[in-house]
Amino acid sequence: MKKKIISVVGARPNFMKVAPLHRQFQRVTGIEHRIVHTGQHYDENMSKVFFGDLELPAPDVYLGVGSGTHAVQTAKIMMEFEKVALEVQPDLVIVVGDVNSTLACSLVAVKLCVPVAHVEAGLRSFDPTMPEEWNRRLTDIIAEHLFVTEPSGVKNLIDEGVDGSRIHLVGDVMIDSLILFREKAAKRNALSEFGVAPREFMLVTLHRPSNVDVKENLEKILAIFEGIGSRTTIIFPIHPRTRKMIREFGLTERFAAIPSLRLTDPIGYLDFLCLMDRAALLLTDSGGIQEETTFLEVPCLTLRENTERPITIEQGTNQLVGLDVERTVAEGLKALDGNGKRGVIPELWDGRAAERIVRILCEKMGVQE
Ligand code: UD1
Repeated sequence: MKKKIISVVGARPNFMKVAPLHRQFQRVTGIEHRIVHTGQHYDENMSKVFFGDLELPAPDVYLGVGSGTHAVQTAKIMMEFEKVALEVQPDLVIVVGDVNSTLACSLVAVKLCVPVAHVEAGLRSFDPTMPEEWNRRLTDIIAEHLFVTEPSGVKNLIDEGVDGSRIHLVGDVMIDSLILFREKAAKRNALSEFGVAPREFMLVTLHRPSNVDVKENLEKILAIFEGIGSRTTIIFPIHPRTRKMIREFGLTERFAAIPSLRLTDPIGYLDFLCLMDRAALLLTDSGGIQEETTFLEVPCLTLRENTERPITIEQGTNQLVGLDVERTVAEGLKALDGNGKRGVIPELWDGRAAERIVRILCEKMGVQE
């Protein structure tokens, strides 16, 4: 009898984390690996395009949960995922990252006495205003196997009293995907589509509620764009939440009035990687991009006061700039001059994290690799 494993995906940053795991599971005959998509993200360019880009098969089950308040979204995912878990009777549920789907499915699984593995465990921003911080903390309490990307995660878990036997420092599955697809991404025409030359543009992503759900903060972001945009092209694939808030605050025209700003719909994994690898710098509030830019050795200015990924500051190219307009513009111009922050690639970010995870899980589940 094959062991059944369900991996959960829900939101955009989950797909590139599950793709390398799926690849590894394909070579283990004693495991049947299924992908359940909660539908937390559902737009074609927030979800479906990633399956093609990452060479993932269509999900085995799509729950179609959609958007809602935190309670509504989490509860709906739980209700729908419970039906699937009862039907499939998995031997293990794998969750990744820190989105609502991560916590919701973990909770369902443990109540059905199904063990949970959390990939990207132990990260802490220590910022209780971030919904992701609660998703991370609570999932780590529930999960039996905790796979960690950087040493700070191990320390955080130990400080929280987690038994060391549950913790595995394995590296970063998101970097596995990046390494696997970097060459393919390099062949995309994304730069010519935007009419930009390598290292002569800034790439932006912004979607954190703390930045985009507050009008004054969006106005500060406008000021940053005006400052850096006087020197270079800014490419800004805009998250649906951000687009909605810009519209609600009546700021659409002010954004449109910056001549060097190219606003576009969200773009797929390969095109984004192609741009990120050739940008002069990134301006972001994403978690994952802080890691990806560290690996690609591209300077990254993070519009947050804290990060759950301190290794990107200590060793990588990341800098926290909060919403300090003057500092961000100054650092941005420095990066455009080729004097941005340099770093080193953290240990274990070598493209083999999924391999390590699958090896450990096979051992724990008594399955021959
Ligand atoms: C979610 C995650 C966040 C992650 C981000 C990546 C949580 C708590 N948040 O934030 O950690 O960094 O995804 O993108 O899980 N919307 C669409 N189409 C979609 C999805 C969303 O239009 O396909 C719009 C809806 O108006 C929705 C809003 O975006 O209300 C926010 O979506 P939601 O999934 O609630 O949170 P994100 O901000 O995307």
